[in-house]
Amino acid sequence: GKYRVISTKSMPGTRWINLLIEQDCRVEICTQKKTILSVEDIIALIGAKCDGVIGQLTEDWGETLFSALSRAGGKAFSNMAVGYNNVDVNAATKYGVAVGNTPGVLTETTAELAASLSLAAARRIVEADEFMRAGLYDGYVNVDFTVLFITYGQFLKANGEQPVTWKRASSMEEVLQEADVISLHPILDKTTYHLINKESLSKMKKEAILINCSRGPVVDEVALVKHLKENPMFRVGLDVFEDEPYMKPGLADMKNAIVVPHIASASKWTREGMATLAALNVLGKIKGYPVWSDPNRIEPFLNENAPPPA
Ligand code: GLV
Repeated sequence: GKYRVISTKSMPGTRWINLLIEQDCRVEICTQKKTILSVEDIIALIGAKCDGVIGQLTEDWGETLFSALSRAGGKAFSNMAVGYNNVDVNAATKYGVAVGNTPGVLTETTAELAASLSLAAARRIVEADEFMRAGLYDGYVNVDFTVLFITYGQFLKANGEQPVTWKRASSMEEVLQEADVISLHPILDKTTYHLINKESLSKMKKEAILINCSRGPVVDEVALVKHLKENPMFRVGLDVFEDEPYMKPGLADMKNAIVVPHIASASKWTREGMATLAALNVLGKIKGYPVWSDPNRIEPFLNENAPPPA
């Protein structure tokens, strides 16, 4: 291989590796057992020569790493995620490194988790499961597990033929006040940090369900724990956390919270697709042509326009 490409973590499937190997790349996968690599760990991996890196959203890709990558001759970085709040795109641009992400392939998988959490929260599946396992079921359901009603068709596409009912809200205020289920999917930036806070929570219905499959800091988790304590009928389904991988004190004790470990994109098909897209991002930049696979994608890189198709 003429080009040295690093992946900071092993990724699912072999397609992404084969794509790179077939095109003159030598692929090195970090085998460190640590789940979160530090900036120093990654500088050591980059070494003296590195053409491109596939990294993870748990890593802090800022000035230090992009200057190190640029000094090593690197031209491309791809986040193995659609969100890129861990990447300083301006710093990358300054050092001439193209930044890619992995949109598209995880959209439906994430929607599926948001819907699953909504239904699980509405029907109190986790509590019901605990109730059953604790041997409390005596043939008669003496706990009300069916307290909330959700208008199904309004948030779930049941099958391809059924029309989906859409209503564009005129304001955030309207959404907060009227929705039975609020599912958060923004990117994390200054405008969405603590978008859901004490004030917005107080405007929501007492029996509403809040789902977060975006980034933890979009919700003020301390305010949320307090709200959950004060409003036992309020439910939350969280895939992400403010201090991920940790939870704020008290959250784990709340029966009206369902918590899962950032699994929204965790299906085999999606994760393999993300790895493939990440490899194509890096390869496309190194070889100078766009070879991304997602037809919905307008630009292969976040910080430059798509080169003309080869
Ligand atoms: C997952 O959180 C992603 O941004 O891809």
